Amino acid sequence: MRIAAAITSFVLLAACDTGTEERDAVASTRSVQRGFVPVPPGTIPRGVSAQAAALAPPGPEPTPVLLARGEERFKAFCTPCHGVSGHGDGPVVPRGFSPPPSYYEERLRALTPEQVVQVITQGKGRMFPYADRVLPEDRWAIAHYIKELQMRGGVGQESAKP
Ligand code: HEC
Repeated sequence: MRIAAAITSFVLLAACDTGTEERDAVASTRSVQRGFVPVPPGTIPRGVSAQAAALAPPGPEPTPVLLARGEERFKAFCTPCHGVSGHGDGPVVPRGFSPPPSYYEERLRALTPEQVVQVITQGKGRMFPYADRVLPEDRWAIAHYIKELQMRGGVGQESAKP
């Protein structure tokens, strides 16, 4: 009986060894064959090249949809300082933030959408960058909306201001 048991356990152990090898082989195959996970909508491209491509000029066309998105994002991120019409009179300015220049100054009127995107990405002087809060596509949307604001001369009553 003992001999039989010894033989059995030897066989089992030997089987275990080959089993381990096989499991490794199976495990590595499994990791290759893992199920396809679709990219969820709204996922932020994180690759450096994806970011660079999204920021490369001329950027997306200023369609009405893009401009509407730009207006919404501008109001969320930029108006606290720049004001709804971009005169540099946002609500935080009287609370001690440095006042931004008016978008209607000659120099700022001359900025291209690409330059505005760059200011959002890198910041400028006393303005912090917004690269971690505003998606590349939205930076173009905001830039085109600002150009539109400048052409219109502002929003509502405020457009009368210089
Ligand atoms: C916390 C306040 C603040 C917020 C929010 C802010 N800015 Fe500014 N911005 C400034 C200030 C201050 C300046 C002037 C910077 C300087 O010249 O030192 C400025 C300057 C600028 C300029 C002019 C750059 C130049 O060439 O002189 C642009 C364009 C601009 N901001 C766009 C934006 C956009 C777009 C947003 C929203 C994504 C935004 N800013 C949000 C404070 C702000």
